[in-house]
Amino acid sequence: MKKIGVLTSGGDAPGMNAAVRAVVRTARYYGMQVYGIERGYEGLISGQITELETRSVSDMIQRGGTFLKTARCKEFTELEGRRKAADTLEAYGIEGLVVVGGDGSFRGAKDLSDDFGIKCMGIPGTIDKDLAYTDYTLGFDTAVNTVLSAINNLRDTMQSHDRVCIVEVMGRHCGDIALYSGIAGGAEYILTPEIPYDLNEIAKSLVKSKLRGKTSNMLVLAEGAGNLEEIAAFLTEHAHVDIKRTHLGHVQRGGSPTMADRILATRFGVRAVEELMNEKSVSSAIGIKENKIIAMPFEQAFAVKRETNTELYNASKILSK
Ligand code: F6P
Repeated sequence: MKKIGVLTSGGDAPGMNAAVRAVVRTARYYGMQVYGIERGYEGLISGQITELETRSVSDMIQRGGTFLKTARCKEFTELEGRRKAADTLEAYGIEGLVVVGGDGSFRGAKDLSDDFGIKCMGIPGTIDKDLAYTDYTLGFDTAVNTVLSAINNLRDTMQSHDRVCIVEVMGRHCGDIALYSGIAGGAEYILTPEIPYDLNEIAKSLVKSKLRGKTSNMLVLAEGAGNLEEIAAFLTEHAHVDIKRTHLGHVQRGGSPTMADRILATRFGVRAVEELMNEKSVSSAIGIKENKIIAMPFEQAFAVKRETNTELYNASKILSK
């Protein structure tokens, strides 16, 4: 393989730049030409492509966001859109593609590979950690640390005023950002889409905790696990506590990647290029399992079912009692 392309797609995640840097430098190391495609599949369809050199990715490892920019592209879900993308790749002589993104981006990569025979490697880049075949995704560690820093700040002020705080975090349908940040931040209640909860029980427990002299509590609410306003209103009415709400929003998607995300991005990037070069390999999702980098054919990766981390849930229940 002489020429490869790299793009970032879907929601951005800290560590995407570090992954692109690793892809570019690995490709150059092995003597390949590498092209950066802007705005994900959109740029592949419309030909927003620039050749990247080792120096093009200098000063990039520490930056959040993605310098290649990103987009969610509806046209690419249609065969005609993918045909245009394949034509662009052919025009540039690009034989292999690295896609950094989440589930939707990987499905696009698989379709491009199935329809037009272009070998694609997917690097999991999403703060949500919602891809079951891999233990971690790029950006998750940074996002959790950003949330944690917010929780630390909130605890200070909640404690001072004897208040209860509900902080809503991202994750789409996955409660892991809430679970990890909640445990690490010492939250008393963690509400996620995976585990049913009873607001009446939480209200009773808040009342009991007040009677015991504990006047400040922290609830971490995952996106998709309930409505922040409704939960706050219910608990105010039934537990008679002073509740403050914080919706963290996109602040948790940005920021300089942590050491863990930079190392992961580097390992993913190197492996993705080496898989592209390997004549025996097929289009695959790159991931990490028990601290080993893996490459799993897309079909197989999609079939892995997400399991709830019961050990962590139990730990959170035990420690918040
Ligand atoms: O997938 C990452 C994510 O931040 C989710 O946690 C969230 O549901 C979604 O993207 C938000 O998307 P947008 O930035 O398009 O509002």
